[in-house]
Amino acid sequence: MNLSSVFLFLVLAVSRCQSDEDVFHNDEHFDAAEYGVYPVQKYRSTDLVSPHLNVLQSSSECAFDLYTFFTPRGPLTSEPNAVILDQGGHLVWTSSWEGQQIYNLMVQEYNGESYLTFWAGNDAVGGHGAGFYFMLDKHYKVFKKIGAAGGLDADLHDFRLTENGTALMTVYQVINKDLAELGKPIMGEIWDCLIQEVDIETGELIFQWRASDHYKVSDTFRPIDDDGVIGRAFDFFHMNSIAKDYKGNYLTSSRYMHSLTYINGSSGEVIWIIGGKRNMFEDLSDGQATNFAYQHDGRWSDDHTTVTMFDNGVDDPHPDIADTRGLRLELDEERMTVKLVAVYKNPHNIHGISQGSFQTLPNGNAFMGYGNTAAFTEYSHNGTVLCDAHFGAESRFGAGEVQSYRAYKYGWHGWPTTSPNVAILQNEDGGWSFYVSWNGATEVNEWVLQGADEVDGAGWVDLNRILKVGFETEFDINAAYPRYMRVLALNSNFKILGVGGLLDLTLEKVIDPVINSTADPGTDINPTQTWSLPPLRIEEGDTWWLKIMLGFCSLGGLCVGLREARVVWRRRRLRRSSIAFQRLDDIRLD
Ligand SMILES: *[C@@H]1O[C@H](CO)[C@@H](O)[C@H](O)[C@H]1NC(C)=O
Ligand SMILES: *[C@@H]1O[C@H](CO)[C@@H](O)[C@H](O)[C@H]1NC(C)=O
Ligand SMILES: *[C@@H]1O[C@H](CO)[C@@H](O)[C@H](O)[C@H]1NC(C)=O
Ligand SMILES: *[C@@H]1O[C@H](CO)[C@@H](O)[C@H](O)[C@H]1NC(C)=O
Repeated sequence: MNLSSVFLFLVLAVSRCQSDEDVFHNDEHFDAAEYGVYPVQKYRSTDLVSPHLNVLQSSSECAFDLYTFFTPRGPLTSEPNAVILDQGGHLVWTSSWEGQQIYNLMVQEYNGESYLTFWAGNDAVGGHGAGFYFMLDKHYKVFKKIGAAGGLDADLHDFRLTENGTALMTVYQVINKDLAELGKPIMGEIWDCLIQEVDIETGELIFQWRASDHYKVSDTFRPIDDDGVIGRAFDFFHMNSIAKDYKGNYLTSSRYMHSLTYINGSSGEVIWIIGGKRNMFEDLSDGQATNFAYQHDGRWSDDHTTVTMFDNGVDDPHPDIADTRGLRLELDEERMTVKLVAVYKNPHNIHGISQGSFQTLPNGNAFMGYGNTAAFTEYSHNGTVLCDAHFGAESRFGAGEVQSYRAYKYGWHGWPTTSPNVAILQNEDGGWSFYVSWNGATEVNEWVLQGADEVDGAGWVDLNRILKVGFETEFDINAAYPRYMRVLALNSNFKILGVGGLLDLTLEKVIDPVINSTADPGTDINPTQTWSLPPLRIEEGDTWWLKIMLGFCSLGGLCVGLREARVVWRRRRLRRSSIAFQRLDDIRLD
């Protein structure tokens, strides 16, 4: 590296670092709700909004190669949304779903492909949901819409694809039940909870299990109060997670039984129960391994030696009786003993009165979403807090104004079929800028702004190029630029992924605010005007090592230099490469 490269490196490192503040850092004003209960990022090129995180803690030990998936909803969000954020807190993709509630956004595999899966529907049916599960492909197109079998509604709590091409779902159904043991009339109504396993292709029911066949209503910890009558079914079990293991057996979590149940996959019989009134395990940790309550998200570890869960500890009527924690329990199924091996406790002492998730990441870290409380936290395997973020003000935690049922982390690669969104608007400095963003496009590495005097083809010249860092990229534009503008999205191999534009600057009115400072630039340009060529070929490859290394840069600011080294490196490579985007003819269409 010669001296000028080093200099460029330093200058870029400083300037980019400052323009990269897309999250708050340990900001007391944020947590005091001084920016509102749910601060959001707004953009110039699109009406989309996304959570504006307050990052309280970060560490290079967090899984920076993964994105964060969650579904903010509640009275203080504009509407329920699915959200993917990158490791730096920048928006990657967001979408609402026909005005419905959205829960449980995940990435799952089916036939060797990754799909976004989530639930959408009505969540106001008494603590559970009536809706459908959706699978979106890498182009964000609906691949499958999956409902429950037998004319029942798919519940929001869990949906798991198995390696054998089936889907597991939680299902709630009102049934009549003798409630005498709870001091009620002989016949009353309860919400029974079902595990359904269906074939993804045919929808055929493969397996079904009913909680009421295996648990008595008096096993519950929930007071029946005025429930249990016709039209007020008693939610005695409240199933909130299901999983199928390599042995073909099922594990399910019940909020109101305070228990996990392990179920024989061929007979449906209960193999064991841990926790609650029917606990079958000897607790080798002074009661700390079996005293969980109202818990969510019970999972086996990959090696099938431990189970993990989000132990709420509390519920709505009892918000302070215990601490919310993540648990990792070591089970000995021969001796029927259980031992607490790790506890994951939020430094902000969150009491999660409902919902919540616990995920063991591929690197062994634990990632917890706090459900009713607008927070997610990543822990090392042993329970040390590594990364911690809020997406709503801490002073309002517990009020439920901003919630996300779960929060998970996954790798994801998306190629939207839309074009990038663009706009030309006056910027904060009073000049004019060209803004571009592309919802869901994960592979864009660099934006190239081009201009031409004629709308119909030849004569496109590169005006500027900027490496993509956050969701929206801003180009300063000046009056010398040609009348028509567009922007190319390049991946890391300089392949064109898409074209945003075409915008007509109508120079006199838009570019120079002095000429007519009252003119609304939005009336002179059409941000939704799209380029009229057919869609460009989509490239799916990228260098994984670069992504991982860049991940480290984004949050901690630790190796900003690395990213900038890449700028220098790539400029050289670009100069050496024969690729030029000067002319329209150079854009290869397939
Ligand atoms: C998948 O099918 C195989 C063979 O039938 C079986 O052994 C395995 O338990 C099944 N796995 C799941 C998760 O259903
Ligand atoms: C599951 O049920 C089958 C069929 O009844 C039985 O053969 C098997 O031993 C059971 N497995 C366990 C772990 O209980
Ligand atoms: C727990 O994990 C943290 C972070 O990886 C590490 O620094 C610490 O030494 C570990 N503590 C123990 C007791 O293993
Ligand atoms: C400035 O813009 C306003 C609003 O578009 C328009 O009514 C007015 O005629 C313009 N003035 C000039 C001098 O172009």
